[in-house]
Amino acid sequence: MTQIPAADLTPEQAAGELKRLAKDIARHDAAYHGKDDPEISDADYDALRRRNEAIEARFPDLVLPDSPSQQVGARPASGFGEVRHALPMLSLNNAFADDDVAEFLGRIRRFLGMGEDAALDMVAEAKIDGLSLSLLYKTGKLVQAATRGDGAKGENVTANVKTVGDLPAHLKGKGWPEAAEIRGEVFMRRADFLALNERQEKAGLKPFANPRNAAAGSLRQLDASITASRPLHFMAYHWGEVSAPLGAGIWEIRQRLAAWGFKVNEPARLCQSLEDMLDFYRATLEDRPELAHDIDGVVYKVNDLTLQDRLGFVSRAPRWAIAHKFPAERAQTRLKAIDIQVGRTGALTPVARLEPVTVGGVVVSNATLHNEDEIARKDVRIGDTVIVQRAGDVIPQVVEAVAKKRPKGSKPYIFPTTCPVCGSHAVREPGEAVRRCTGGLICAAQAVERLKHFVSRDAFDIEGMGAKHIVAFWRDGLIETPADIFRLKLSDIDQREGWGGKSAHNLIDSIGDSRRITLDRFIYALGIRLAGQATAKLLARNYTTLDALIEAMTAAADPESAASAELLGIDGIGPGVAAEIVGFFTEPRNREILADLAQALAIEPAPAPSGAGSPVTGKTVVFTGTLETMTRGEAKARAETLGAKVAGSVSKKTGYVVIGADAGSKARKAAELGVTVLSEAEWLALIDREA
Ligand code: IVH
Repeated sequence: MTQIPAADLTPEQAAGELKRLAKDIARHDAAYHGKDDPEISDADYDALRRRNEAIEARFPDLVLPDSPSQQVGARPASGFGEVRHALPMLSLNNAFADDDVAEFLGRIRRFLGMGEDAALDMVAEAKIDGLSLSLLYKTGKLVQAATRGDGAKGENVTANVKTVGDLPAHLKGKGWPEAAEIRGEVFMRRADFLALNERQEKAGLKPFANPRNAAAGSLRQLDASITASRPLHFMAYHWGEVSAPLGAGIWEIRQRLAAWGFKVNEPARLCQSLEDMLDFYRATLEDRPELAHDIDGVVYKVNDLTLQDRLGFVSRAPRWAIAHKFPAERAQTRLKAIDIQVGRTGALTPVARLEPVTVGGVVVSNATLHNEDEIARKDVRIGDTVIVQRAGDVIPQVVEAVAKKRPKGSKPYIFPTTCPVCGSHAVREPGEAVRRCTGGLICAAQAVERLKHFVSRDAFDIEGMGAKHIVAFWRDGLIETPADIFRLKLSDIDQREGWGGKSAHNLIDSIGDSRRITLDRFIYALGIRLAGQATAKLLARNYTTLDALIEAMTAAADPESAASAELLGIDGIGPGVAAEIVGFFTEPRNREILADLAQALAIEPAPAPSGAGSPVTGKTVVFTGTLETMTRGEAKARAETLGAKVAGSVSKKTGYVVIGADAGSKARKAAELGVTVLSEAEWLALIDREA
């Protein structure tokens, strides 16, 4: 691979890449989970995620709120009822090299304040490449089954799951809790997948890209009798809400799950050391071809549930588990063309169009080429035979061109210096990896991408206003800025081709419904560079109203101001994001658009954070001195999970100062300012956890 190593990226290059990665990964997630129809191989997808992780590890300030590291899977597709998971269904972080696994163990030990040699039992299991499912049993009977969806809400697939042969409709044996949510993986065996694809093709239907997509497609049939005709299997490896504990450790719970009638993941091993774990990894990799189903790595998990509890989660994944992925699979194919896509902020992104090729069971026909420098460095030319790679389970990458197979007379690729959409100059700022279209408001691609973002599900969520309508409305001059959307009249639409009275009415209604919007969604809808949903929420919670936000951002333009310090003091907002936000709100054209929008809308304060209900939600907490029952990192993570902000210094705004042993000046300052001071035990009592 000849892309710039993460260690050599400038911050500008890193910001550009992270943005591109977030976008690409989101698109591939949607294609994969939402439509069961991936564009790229798992290995390539993994490579993108890994790249994203590597860059984020080096530039933690640049982590985008909508980064793939902050999300789980895709949202539920329509057609099924929705199930809200009592406990979120999370994902796993990935390890690729042995060192990543060693670091994972080190992190756990440090977090728990354990010595390097202290015993730590780890369960290692094969990682099945299927889709996760949550099964709710009440008095031993299967009553509900749900897909992961976006982690918070999934699809209700109960009727379909009841046709899956190897999961118990009634729990066997005894000792199961009154209510238990059992989680695991639904998958299709390789031989069944090949046979199914043969049947699909005979029937003139599109074959599935891989067993995982075949399993997902089969499970999501609206007609349960179709699911019943597809051989699906299930293995249990986890659980959600349970009315009584299932046991003290995973190893023990595995035996119990088996006794209740579940298949559990095999192979598996209870490991006592890093060496044990890596040995299991290598043995499993060797056995991989003999298994009836696809596995894409192994999962290591802390066995002891008490320790798991203390370790908790970071955004989308538990700290107590990691997936150690198997290496990339590669293939050669021809690069047919390089397309340039223009995004919301004008960034020109090159996409490789490939002769479709199967890499590790997945058909790959597109891969991103990152940026101009990347293409030049690899000297990738149209017509070249290229090596395409998918690492474990990620997005495809063009690794390199095969020099020997280069057709005669081929020429180096010349990156366009004009926007392929509007023809404006496309320029690169010094130090930036990305070339951007300077067309701004006249560039159809940018305008349309911004408007698409504005109406999208997590922003204004205007139903019936699809991408193709936006393009047509924009082209015909009906909408130029977002505020124009709210000036659309029935008579603008109902006479247009493809629109009837009813659909036009529906659109006007949904535009009307979207006028009431929470401040966080409104901020997100503005499409400020680097400011995704999480940043929008932070701003909304901190400034409460649009007027206050505008006023504060105007003041924050002066880097010496208190407003600037306040913005930078928000945990989760780094200098790069802050600069973009201030830049956006101080730009006169944006101020006009904001004023125009504000008139058309009823903007409400952001909803309370998810930890609402805890006395510490929304409070700022300062930890000082040496804590006894937890490390500082653990204390901080726990507080943040409950919706508190953790700060490093005490001010009038501090809600609580928690003092450990040898607390110094911060405790004194708290007393002076009249801020509530708590001992560690008092803090634990407050957040309702026994010391
Ligand atoms: S443990 C908190 N164990 O891999 C999540 N997951 O890429 C605990 N998976 O979301 C999950 N085999 O759907 C676990 N033996 C195994 C697994 C496994 C497959 C899936 C699971 C997870 C995904 C992450």
